[in-house]
Amino acid sequence: MPHDGPKPVNHFYTAYTPPLIDGDFEGKHIISVDQFARHDLEILFDAARSIRRRISQQDRGLKEICAGKVMASLFFEASTRTDMSFQAAMRRLGGDVISASNGVQFSSMYKGENIADTIRAAGCYADAIVMRHDQEGSTYEAAFYLDRLNRQIKNRAILISGGDGVGEHPTQALLDLFTIFDRKQGIDHLTLTMVGDLKHGRTVHSLAKLIACYRPAGVTLCLVSPESLRMPAPIVALLRAAGLSVIETTDLMQVLPDSDVMYWTRVQEERFSQPDEYERIKDGFVMLPAVLARAPARMILMHPLPRKHEMGTQADHDILDEDPRAIYFEQMENGMFVRMALLAKVLRGAYV
Ligand code: NCD
Repeated sequence: MPHDGPKPVNHFYTAYTPPLIDGDFEGKHIISVDQFARHDLEILFDAARSIRRRISQQDRGLKEICAGKVMASLFFEASTRTDMSFQAAMRRLGGDVISASNGVQFSSMYKGENIADTIRAAGCYADAIVMRHDQEGSTYEAAFYLDRLNRQIKNRAILISGGDGVGEHPTQALLDLFTIFDRKQGIDHLTLTMVGDLKHGRTVHSLAKLIACYRPAGVTLCLVSPESLRMPAPIVALLRAAGLSVIETTDLMQVLPDSDVMYWTRVQEERFSQPDEYERIKDGFVMLPAVLARAPARMILMHPLPRKHEMGTQADHDILDEDPRAIYFEQMENGMFVRMALLAKVLRGAYV
């Protein structure tokens, strides 16, 4: 869904529509959480759990799942977890990973080559391409040109979005929802709270939409942000249309005592055009040990990471990280299991 931020709507939103998964992942680009329905999530999460078990059993058969396949890593924006977990996922499934030598800063994008041609280069050589770019809608454009290429050549690469600016981050949402299901045995009747930069944060855009796609029963979603960083109105409307109760507030304490899941986020400094606006807002919501002390014992604290001011200093991190409610490292590890399941599904169909 187009985001209602400052940028004009990318016309590739209308030129390219990502295919619905509808029980069959094989050969499909993964661009938006809109592609997933409840049944697809159940299939994927079962596969991720199976992969996690097989890793713990050191099952060598995992290496056969993507043997002979190649994944291209195309990150035009900073990444630690998404890039590394996808690379680790592909290697653990027996596949290989390629990227432009020494990273994309030495690729032809820096000679001025456009997305359309860059993605077609990767599409000639790889079976799967993971792309991150700072432009919203860039993954739609890339998928559009990749499909054109795929009609002309023998190779048939699939594209997986690693994030498109302020747009979406679908695989992060998949791993986030997997983590919630894993810890809470489902999502029905939970109160989930998202805090921070809900305007620019693609992780919260995708997670909120994915929860709506699942159509849970009795879920309350609390959206806590400064007034200027509210969740885009079209996403809030979508949540309400899916039957969720939505509470938008600037007061964390109003919703903290009732929260089963707390999803904390970073203020996205790189998306601000005015540095002083960022400075003014950056310390608005800080998860400190004293704040966590007021949260219920049953609550889980999630964060897509990286973290900056919004979790205080390193000394604060050291205290928070030891709290059993803080599960962001487990969330991070789940990222690899879910991405392994996804790669296995899109490259090999129903193999796991
Ligand atoms: C997030 C991202 O890149 O959107 N990080 C991630 O992929 N785990 C969140 C962020 O940068 O704040």
